[in-house]
Amino acid sequence: MINVQFAARPERWATQEAPLRAAFAQAGLNADLRPDHDPADVDYVVYAPNSDLQDFTPYTRCKAVLSLWAGVEKIVGNQTLTMPLCRMVDPGLTAGMVEWVTGHVLRYHLDIDNTIHTQDRWEPKVPPLAEERPVTVLGLGALGQACAQMLATLGFPVTGWSRSEKSIDGITCHHGEAGLRAALTGAEIVVLLLPDTPATENTLNDETLALLPKGARLINPGRGPLIDDNALLAALDSGQVGHATLDVFRVEPLPLDHPYWAHPNVTVTPHIAAETRAITAARVIAENIRRGEAGEPLLHLVDRSLGY
Ligand code: NDP
Ligand code: OXD
Repeated sequence: MINVQFAARPERWATQEAPLRAAFAQAGLNADLRPDHDPADVDYVVYAPNSDLQDFTPYTRCKAVLSLWAGVEKIVGNQTLTMPLCRMVDPGLTAGMVEWVTGHVLRYHLDIDNTIHTQDRWEPKVPPLAEERPVTVLGLGALGQACAQMLATLGFPVTGWSRSEKSIDGITCHHGEAGLRAALTGAEIVVLLLPDTPATENTLNDETLALLPKGARLINPGRGPLIDDNALLAALDSGQVGHATLDVFRVEPLPLDHPYWAHPNVTVTPHIAAETRAITAARVIAENIRRGEAGEPLLHLVDRSLGY
């Protein structure tokens, strides 16, 4: 019997329990899934970083912690979590992110807001084609790469930026600190899909925002600390950034007195860009437990030294 501890908020148990049981059965795993195992008996922990479980010391025989979240910045520094940690890469979550990013890119590209606001006037203003609108995606991981490929399929000239060197069909790739300037120069729409690590904090700041063409638009479904908020507010006020759509913030929920709420050129969304989907995520977790039991390498292992 494989003892699987479910450590997440109770509402998550309500939606995730049945899909996990089904996925374990499908994978042929003889698993005892519960939210209340004795920690010393647990083989795997299915984990949400906002759960009450923060001290992993008593989980002495645990073989891996399997995160339900893609972003692991809240747990990667937990000194008691010494077992392998896997982040969530879920086809359902990825599909949701591709839809959300594509929708917001098209909103900017087609100038949908202005079209709606001038619907009482006959003022034809034909938008350019996608091929005339350079888009840059910062972060070419599971999510960034899928979004970049969809945007390229729609015809946008897409540039991407990552830590390590990459070659992706149809995408102009840059990497490392030295590649950021090239990735931002000329980008009319920038999408942030980087993880929150010490190295990515304030990736967009006074200096890097100044590399963008005047009036560029930003879309941040990554994490709040990727952007220096004061630098962005100044760039919005000067018109250097034309508009920003922000889904994630340093403090969530975004405090009611935060200037983003009232700014005419900011759209705030409440961290809803993409969610882990119970059925597809359960399959990923089951596959990782199957691998763990078979002695095969786990998927989506977090590199603690890099923080993602
Ligand atoms: P991945 O780990 O798959 O990809 C991260 C990407 O960022 C990789 O391409 C990586 O480069 C790049 N990167 C990391 N550090 C640096 C750096 N210092 N300089 C340049 N590039 C860097 O993550 P995902 O694509 O799965 O997810 C990205 C983020 O999206 C998550 O960490 C999370 O914060 C956020 N997210 C937000 C959601 C929402 O609803 N708003 C939902 C889910 C996730 P390399 O390829 O070389 O490793
Ligand atoms: C995640 C998120 O990291 O929802 O999964 O932001």
